[in-house]
Amino acid sequence: MPATNRLAVSLCGISLKNPVLAASGTYAYGIEFASLTDLNQIGGIVVKGLSARPIAGNPPPRIWEARSGMINSIGLQNIGVRGFVKEELPALRRFQTAIFANVFGYTPEDYIEVAEVLENADGLAGYELNVSCPNTKHGGIFFSSDPCQLGELVAAVRQVVKRRPLIVKLSPNVSPDRAFGEGRRGCRCRCHLADKYLRLSGD
Ligand SMILES: Cc1cc2nc3c(=O)[nH]c(=O)nc-3n(C[C@H](O)[C@H](O)[C@H](O)COP(=O)(O)O)c2cc1C
Repeated sequence: MPATNRLAVSLCGISLKNPVLAASGTYAYGIEFASLTDLNQIGGIVVKGLSARPIAGNPPPRIWEARSGMINSIGLQNIGVRGFVKEELPALRRFQTAIFANVFGYTPEDYIEVAEVLENADGLAGYELNVSCPNTKHGGIFFSSDPCQLGELVAAVRQVVKRRPLIVKLSPNVSPDRAFGEGRRGCRCRCHLADKYLRLSGD
């Protein structure tokens, strides 16, 4: 009789071997760690945030030790979604672990473009939306800070995301009450999981 994996969990319908996910940005694209650890043992990897076009990131210093912890200012450096699909995903999908693509942008159109490219790629388990980004079309207000913008963004991305679950990574700077409360224009976000990581419908 096969041994039961007692650590197995389901996240938005995605089966994970265990509830350990490498957080976006702390584990690069995953492959970089293959010589140091067995990637097959990790529940899942959330890859470094992906944007529509490559971003060089901020000049150093990028990491600073503070009395209360650590401050980082990477500047969302990444090779762009197309670079990821071409250069990283083929190697990554050979491992038996769930791969989540972390998606970000500075306008709703940026997010949609990234999501469209990912929808046409194989080897992903789901998407994580990083909404802690300023909406440059709305005076730089963070998507995560305004329920209306957040709802509209999620609804827009949902239009193009059909194959996989969409998880929204809320900002630690905004309480779920505020993120999902009624916005100024009376719009609402509805959440399905009461936690920091929420699956949303944008209505
Ligand atoms: C160096 C570094 C880079 C990060 N890059 C991203 C990123 O690209 N996208 C993202 O959504 N979060 C990014 N994060 C945030 C982490 O995924 C995570 O949410 C954050 O570290 C809080 O987790 P903790 O409370 O376990 O420290 C980054 C964090 C660090 C330290």
